[in-house]
Amino acid sequence: MMEPVNVAIIYYSSTGTVHALAQAAVEGAEKAGATVRLRKVAETAPPEAVSGRAEWAGHLEDTADVTEAGHDDLEWADAVLFGTPTRFGNPASQLRAFIDTTGPLWFQGKLADKVYSAFTASNTAHGGQESTLLALANTFYHWGGIIVPPGYTDPLQFRSGNPYGTSHVTGDGPPGEVALQAARYQARRVVDIAAFLKVGRAA
Ligand SMILES: Cc1cc2nc3c(=O)[nH]c(=O)nc-3n(C[C@H](O)[C@H](O)[C@H](O)COP(=O)(O)O)c2cc1C
Repeated sequence: MMEPVNVAIIYYSSTGTVHALAQAAVEGAEKAGATVRLRKVAETAPPEAVSGRAEWAGHLEDTADVTEAGHDDLEWADAVLFGTPTRFGNPASQLRAFIDTTGPLWFQGKLADKVYSAFTASNTAHGGQESTLLALANTFYHWGGIIVPPGYTDPLQFRSGNPYGTSHVTGDGPPGEVALQAARYQARRVVDIAAFLKVGRAA
């Protein structure tokens, strides 16, 4: 009997959209049989910036009990899903700040051969979701990762619409059932592919 796939879902969210997608990804990964760690990255914005927006401060407080991501989570994981809002067409600096601490792991080859996938949210439909996901993928290439995008591998993807990774338009309101299902589906696909690899390595 194979050990379950270990999945780390590492995200940043200011106002809860990406957090909601991350929680749906947890559901999808767990349903697919994985052991899952949900991890937020540290808030690096100055306190006055956070307190200047009630929904930002409120979300930070609401998620105070979510454990912060550490290098041990990356080492432990067979697969990692990263979630980030789109910031000027790029991943949020808070997530980048965490990623930019991983040099020592990368140098030791500890980030290679894992499955990676990513999801995002932006305020508008053409506000940079693909560029954000592709920018994150640059890092996965450097790590020697195995990138597993959702593609159009399920009929749901023709409704959710982004083969690069689950994406939600926050300007339309909080993630609805299609976006949440897409996040669950993406996580399931990540677990399935990571399981194939884990079985293959154990053989
Ligand atoms: C500094 C900053 C830059 C942003 N840049 C973009 C952008 O390039 N395109 C876009 O559509 N939305 C942009 N947004 C909106 C966020 O992507 C959007 O609010 C996001 O879905 C919020 O996710 P969260 O609720 O998880 O924090 C930006 C927001 C901020 C604060």
